[in-house]
Amino acid sequence: MANVGMPPWSQGRVYLLVAFCLVVLFFVDKFQHEIHVEGASAFSTKQFRSSKALSTTIANDTLGFEKIMVINAPWRSDRKDSISLAASYTGISLDWIDGISADDMQDKAYPPGNHKKLPPGNLGSWRAHMNALREIVEKNLTTAMILEDDADWDFRIRSQLTDVAHGAQEIPDLVAQSELRLKESSMPSHDQLSPVELAGRSSLPISLASRQKIAKLEPYGRNWDVLWLGHCGATLSPPSPNRPDRIFIPNDLTIPSPKHLRPTSHSPLDAISTLYPPHTRIIHRANTTLCTIAYAVTQSGARKLLYEFGVREFDRGYDFALSDYCNGLTRGATRERLPMCVAVSPPVFSHHFAEKATSDIVGVGPGGRTSEGTRYVTWSVRMNLERLVRGQEEMVQQWGDGPE
Ligand SMILES: *[C@@H]1O[C@H](CO)[C@@H](O)[C@H](O)[C@H]1NC(C)=O
Ligand SMILES: *[C@@H]1O[C@H](CO)[C@@H](O)[C@H](O)[C@H]1NC(C)=O
Ligand SMILES: *[C@@H]1O[C@H](CO)[C@@H](O)[C@H](O)[C@H]1NC(C)=O
Repeated sequence: MANVGMPPWSQGRVYLLVAFCLVVLFFVDKFQHEIHVEGASAFSTKQFRSSKALSTTIANDTLGFEKIMVINAPWRSDRKDSISLAASYTGISLDWIDGISADDMQDKAYPPGNHKKLPPGNLGSWRAHMNALREIVEKNLTTAMILEDDADWDFRIRSQLTDVAHGAQEIPDLVAQSELRLKESSMPSHDQLSPVELAGRSSLPISLASRQKIAKLEPYGRNWDVLWLGHCGATLSPPSPNRPDRIFIPNDLTIPSPKHLRPTSHSPLDAISTLYPPHTRIIHRANTTLCTIAYAVTQSGARKLLYEFGVREFDRGYDFALSDYCNGLTRGATRERLPMCVAVSPPVFSHHFAEKATSDIVGVGPGGRTSEGTRYVTWSVRMNLERLVRGQEEMVQQWGDGPE
């Protein structure tokens, strides 16, 4: 009865209707990957799978370094479990360096310097980093990355590091040239320039800076000592408007929006958030750099650091010591013999704060309480572990344009 008066549907119309529904379904499915919910949004794991296809060796299991070493205390098996899972989902292979308890150390094993004022957590951390460096020296590795076990990274770590590799190859030369230029007397004065203009004139875009292709065998080169990839705050090198010595990577969409660029929710914003356009990454000579979450060393860098802190002097937390060493603030340092430390801002590795985050090192690390999350990392592997394990396609993104 209900159909009375309605024209009967032709077969053609039915096909048309079905086709229309399929098209609608397709778009609904497509847009589900772009949902925006309060600063967090979703992305699909499909979007990063292709990143392994990068032609460089950075695509390999050790991200183009000869080894990746993780410092993990045997009594923090929880952290070992978590970082192992994160590495497994991003195709990274890890070597372990056992964390050390200060109770197992004898006084006579410390190098000169007043280590007694340091808390036990600092002593153990220092020794673990020394053991990692010693292993690099013993095995004569050309490069290695040292990670702390609460480090987190982006699913797109390989494409980020491809840019960093170009930068690491060029910065030592740029710095050397700018230091030469400093010695020349006829430098124009730039007193009238604003900080933004100074920053602009001090920086070269990566497209101009990287003339050479990255080498297959040593993608990062080896003209540097330390490549500081994960930190919780880095001061840029002083501006060098007459001869740029920083490299900038524009439009890097893996970088959080500027209002989120700070190591904790209570810290002031990082200088890059106002000096450069949004989504810019800077590769620069290290000045003051906080936290040793992730750094790479070359063989010669490892030897220098092992001598400096394992043999010559140890009197402050290792992260402060490394920062001072890179910045020429160590006793007896001269400008000519400064180590070449290259930093990346914002960092590509960052501390992950789990729900009940506790550090074994008292008084070190970003101050204040932090809720769960990883600063600086938008497509965080750790934040998505549960979804990955459950085989879900949709991942959650952090630090978008929405509120925190
Ligand atoms: C990855 O590439 C680097 C640089 O060529 C090399 O030293 C390292 O051995 C490679 N790692 C693996 C696991 O093949
Ligand atoms: C260490 O490796 C370098 C090449 O990276 C090589 O020239 C040198 O002979 C090696 N040293 C030892 C002691 O094997
Ligand atoms: C770090 O910055 C300070 C202040 O701008 C500067 O005096 C110092 O020379 C810088 N250190 C290096 C290694 O460039």
